[in-house]
Amino acid sequence: MATDLVTVNLQPLGKTVTVNRGTSLVDVLHEYGVEFPCGGKGICGNCRVKLLRGELKADRNQQERLGKLHLSDEWRLACFCAVDSDVTLEIAQLESIILADNTPFDFCPGNGCGIAIDVGTTTLVAQLLDLQTGAVLDVVTALNPQTRFGSDVISRIQSGLEGNAGAMCRLIREKTGEMIVSLLAGRSVEVSKIVLVGNTAMHHLFGGLDLAPLSFFPFESPSLSAQSFTPDELDWKIPGRPTVTFFPSIGSFVGSDILAGIAATRMTERQEFTVLIDLGTNGEIACGNRDGVLCASTAAGPAFEGASISQGMRAATGAISSVTSGNVGLCCTVIGNTAPRGICGSGLVDAMDVLIEGREIGEFGEILSGEEKLLLQHPVYLSQQDIREFQLAKAAVATGVSILLSHLGITFSQVDQVFIAGGFGNYLRAENLVKTGIVETDASKIVKVGNTALIGAKMFLFEEPGHADQIRRKTSHLNLESDPLFQEIYIEKLQLY
Ligand code: FES
Repeated sequence: MATDLVTVNLQPLGKTVTVNRGTSLVDVLHEYGVEFPCGGKGICGNCRVKLLRGELKADRNQQERLGKLHLSDEWRLACFCAVDSDVTLEIAQLESIILADNTPFDFCPGNGCGIAIDVGTTTLVAQLLDLQTGAVLDVVTALNPQTRFGSDVISRIQSGLEGNAGAMCRLIREKTGEMIVSLLAGRSVEVSKIVLVGNTAMHHLFGGLDLAPLSFFPFESPSLSAQSFTPDELDWKIPGRPTVTFFPSIGSFVGSDILAGIAATRMTERQEFTVLIDLGTNGEIACGNRDGVLCASTAAGPAFEGASISQGMRAATGAISSVTSGNVGLCCTVIGNTAPRGICGSGLVDAMDVLIEGREIGEFGEILSGEEKLLLQHPVYLSQQDIREFQLAKAAVATGVSILLSHLGITFSQVDQVFIAGGFGNYLRAENLVKTGIVETDASKIVKVGNTALIGAKMFLFEEPGHADQIRRKTSHLNLESDPLFQEIYIEKLQLY
């Protein structure tokens, strides 16, 4: 007997909700902050969802409206739909939480099409490019299906060593293959190259490489080089015979996502010193110029992505993204202009700035009133533990940059620009990065550069592999903990003022 309950899997949120058969999608999506700008008249198309799995009926009226909005068969208008069976949907309005990119860059035209894929620990972005014109033809985003085995690289490596490496390898190959199929659906294009970039754990998991060397001192894997595959080897059912390359890592905890970031920001071509800080799930940093770049990974953890914060969330609808002090307490801005559900990285940095400035938090991070938590906007609080998580993350980044600069023999005053990469940077106020001590320089030097891993991966599509090797040869990896002053500097950087 058919049950009266069905499941709706919402991407890219990665959430599955169970509802009564026949429930309207408006009721389901409203809960997640999705808006219906034309009031459900089928005119604006802003409520569109892509049907990834299952069935969602589109009657003649809806089909006509989809046609007028130039939306293909896989799309539905949520304001017209009810759920009658288990479905997986990609919600267009929530796509912006994964940072795709359309930054222009210089390139030498090639032939056919190419696909660039940023394999993040949390999120995946794939773009299809016309190699003749450089135009981005389509983009697909998804959550990394490995998240069920742990949210950060350390837990992913641990889980791999406990016997789940094969499953994670299969999942990521399947998911990226599906993304490519979806990019190519309805197109007769010839793909000649596919470039993947990601951190070293993602590189090893995708390639089916031994994770053990990433798990113990001195954390030196012998398998950092580029991994090449044929689509058949990956079990990808795609036309043609494109070359598929997962680009090489720089070190055990600095992957090709940072190599791509260095390419995107052209750090190794500049005379001036620049710093690149990627505040994704892992905090990686690079400092240098055309004479050489030093890279390191910090133990920042995922605080800036909201993961280790009790009411933390990614920069999606319902997240407090900015906090200022008003006449009668704190003023919070919530993404999607809806009731707050949590706080994302930029909101956390802003909140810390306001609370430090108002002397509600002491120099060692203690809540001065003695309370256990501080209200931002009902029902969102920052707890004492959240403040500790922020301190650990900010100290890790500040210590890392300080050590790299000292190894280069320079100070921050000699740095021309500080590039902040990653989705976190989107909503961020540069001056609060400075005021909270995450970046110890002038706010005017801070440049938000978006998803540099994806930008660099796209650039690699147009270049000979030798270009990435050149960058790699100019780049060295430093183990921060091996610096004799690490502990001393780290403890100093934990202080908030
Ligand atoms: S809300 Fe405008 S088309 Fe659905």
